[in-house]
Amino acid sequence: MSTAPASPAPASAAGIPTAPGSLPLLGHAIPLLRDNLAFIASLRDHGPLVRIHLQPGRPTIVINDPALIRRMLVDLAPGLDKGRFFEKMGQVLGGDSVVTAAGADHVRKRRQLQPAFRHAEIARYVDLMREQVTRTAASWTPGANLDVREVMVKLSLDMLAATVFASSLDEQAFLRLRRDLSVVMNGVGARVMLPDWVEKLPLPANRRFNASRAAVRALIGEAVTDLRASGHDTGDMLSMLMRAEDEETGAPLTAHQICSEVLTLAVAGTETTASVLSWILYELARDPEIDKRLQAELDTVLGDRPVTFEDLPNLSYLRNVITEALRLHHTGWLVTRRTLTPIRLGDQEIPADTELAYCQHALHRDPSLFPDPLRFDPDRWLEGTRKAALPDGAFLPFGAGKHKCIGDHFAMTELATAIATLTRSWRLETEPGRSVRPVARATVRPGALMMTAGRRGRD
Ligand code: HEM
Repeated sequence: MSTAPASPAPASAAGIPTAPGSLPLLGHAIPLLRDNLAFIASLRDHGPLVRIHLQPGRPTIVINDPALIRRMLVDLAPGLDKGRFFEKMGQVLGGDSVVTAAGADHVRKRRQLQPAFRHAEIARYVDLMREQVTRTAASWTPGANLDVREVMVKLSLDMLAATVFASSLDEQAFLRLRRDLSVVMNGVGARVMLPDWVEKLPLPANRRFNASRAAVRALIGEAVTDLRASGHDTGDMLSMLMRAEDEETGAPLTAHQICSEVLTLAVAGTETTASVLSWILYELARDPEIDKRLQAELDTVLGDRPVTFEDLPNLSYLRNVITEALRLHHTGWLVTRRTLTPIRLGDQEIPADTELAYCQHALHRDPSLFPDPLRFDPDRWLEGTRKAALPDGAFLPFGAGKHKCIGDHFAMTELATAIATLTRSWRLETEPGRSVRPVARATVRPGALMMTAGRRGRD
């Protein structure tokens, strides 16, 4: 990790320094609103543990050291609740979701979803995913100016709906869901950074958040009711959730519970995948050499055929491109936990009811872990090179421990299927010299990303 700064902010009673810039009623809202990613990244200069104030009077300890992050996620996990970020997500997901649950409740909810993410299911999904990608690619025309992030959100949602729910959303429903989800996800991002009292003010932003949250839940609720009425039972996840029983009461899951889990997957599995896909297309446009090597591998392994599940282990350069995108452009900027009992973290005693957090985006750009961190370099992940030398906890694309992403293999499979399919017929170009900045709300995503579609001639 980086060394301590020349003049650290004053240490608190517990010996953990507080980041500069906190104000009495606002906490660190101002530096966070100005540039949350830069602010969180700057914390590593103050040591392995740094205090910030999201909610005045209730500090959050940000962990910058890989070994301590891993300790929080893995060793200490059974004794931790999920903390502020997930509390704000719970306002949208309705408090009945695997993402916000902890303890025995989490184990039960995770068990209900797990079967849809088994290896055999994922192998089956590839053809369904590829169909959606092929349909997207077929809708482009040469010279079209694409809002890439928007197109990738639609594609990710289509892949999820086709695989996990064996259904699809019509264009109108998608547009409504997209607009409302974007309002609530931006709202969650703001609510994490701002003191809680701001949520209670009669501001237009709060009214919009409440209206969009109600609209999203109503739309998903209606879709679930319609599918139920149609006797939907295709062996997919939705059918499993409809048949699932509460372990304690034996009662079927309520419509509210099912709606929460469906919404969880829509939120956890589309914003993230869509951002990573967008960044990969952007990086391929910026570096023709990487693009050329990727196409050479696809030519060798696939020839003229479409990609299949069996091809994926043979596409090692593609895997390195995806892994590098998950490093440089990670979608997580503040993953939280909360202590339920006193714990020890490094040389610090941390009392019960303390907020903890870490930032993957900053961790994956730490120059002491990843030399020349801002360079997009898939060769960092070549077998036998840097990867083996990384300390535990330095690279956490899908987290670790009991809350590790349930969709990790699903996501890697859809990222590979989408890139191996889209880039065979299209090359997307950015305006020369234009660079795109990350924007962090509930997740980190590219700011405006317009690209022009060009047909790729293959011989
Ligand atoms: C590139 C894409 C993705 C990334 C980078 C990603 C990342 C993550 C991370 C870091 C966590 C752990 C959060 C924590 O420590 O609390 C997580 C949890 C989760 N993810 Fe993903 N994810 C991705 C795709 C998906 C997909 C496609 C799905 C489902 C279709 C999904 C569903 C979930 C769920 C349900 C959890 C909560 C797991 C639990 O608490 O037991 N994710 N994800």
